[in-house]
Amino acid sequence: MEVIYSINDLRARIRSYRRNNDQSVGFVPTMGFLHEGHASLLNEARQQSGLVVLSIFVNPLQFGPNEDFEQYPRNTEQDLQVAEAAGVDIVFIPEVKEMYPVPMHTNVSVTGLTSRLCGASRPGHFDGVATVVSKLFHLVQPDQAFFGLKDAQQVAVIQQMVNDLNIPVEIIPCPILREPNGLAMSSRNVYLSVDERKQALVLSQSLEKAKDFVQANSSYTSVELKELVTEHIASAPLAEIDYVEVLAYPTLEPLENSISRSSDHPTSFIIALAVKFGKTRLIDNLIL
Ligand code: PAF
Repeated sequence: MEVIYSINDLRARIRSYRRNNDQSVGFVPTMGFLHEGHASLLNEARQQSGLVVLSIFVNPLQFGPNEDFEQYPRNTEQDLQVAEAAGVDIVFIPEVKEMYPVPMHTNVSVTGLTSRLCGASRPGHFDGVATVVSKLFHLVQPDQAFFGLKDAQQVAVIQQMVNDLNIPVEIIPCPILREPNGLAMSSRNVYLSVDERKQALVLSQSLEKAKDFVQANSSYTSVELKELVTEHIASAPLAEIDYVEVLAYPTLEPLENSISRSSDHPTSFIIALAVKFGKTRLIDNLIL
């Protein structure tokens, strides 16, 4: 496994791989503090691609002024062990000044999709994500890029960007990984106190309840699903709901009619939520 810090070295390494191989390049962009969810993306990349590139970069552009950029958990040594175990070939770990040597005057902004959910709660967040991911795609030039569906809106935004800008990469969405108790894996889970962690289980429980409800009823509305999920989350005293939304996926358009199993409903839909426990904002979702 090779660890690369500079853009020039990364480009040279990818060029040399391309010259000597006709296998695909798989890319897993991350902000580090890798957990089993990231490992599952790396394993998928290892299975599908000839060269597996992992990037670790806590991207300042996607954090708001009062968000946790400085505190975001970092542990490069541990990340390298996870990467090595997953069979990664190249780890790209640029410094902020390598990615942004001068202030940026270019911004990649995906409209529409980003006006809801986390885009509404975190203004500018998806511009930061789209901008850094497009920079990384230009540097790595991957054939496939692997993203976790815990950030389902991010997957939709990146897929839109890739379509709109004809970026020649296949976006591969990968399932959410959960702890045995149901909590969706996230680097931010380390912030949770014992009590908060216990109460945060209402998130996955509420989605399970919604799933059971969908399976038990032949027709239901997005409002009913939203109420059911909201009510269960509100039973946790420490939960502060940012949003619970039921929208078409991946368009993230509101669902106008009731959803019925018998009608051939063309789109799948997402139940997406963001909830704060103390200072920690967690997201989770279910796509049906
Ligand atoms: O999902 C993340 O970790 C980040 O948003 C990403 C895609 C690496 C961009 O910084």
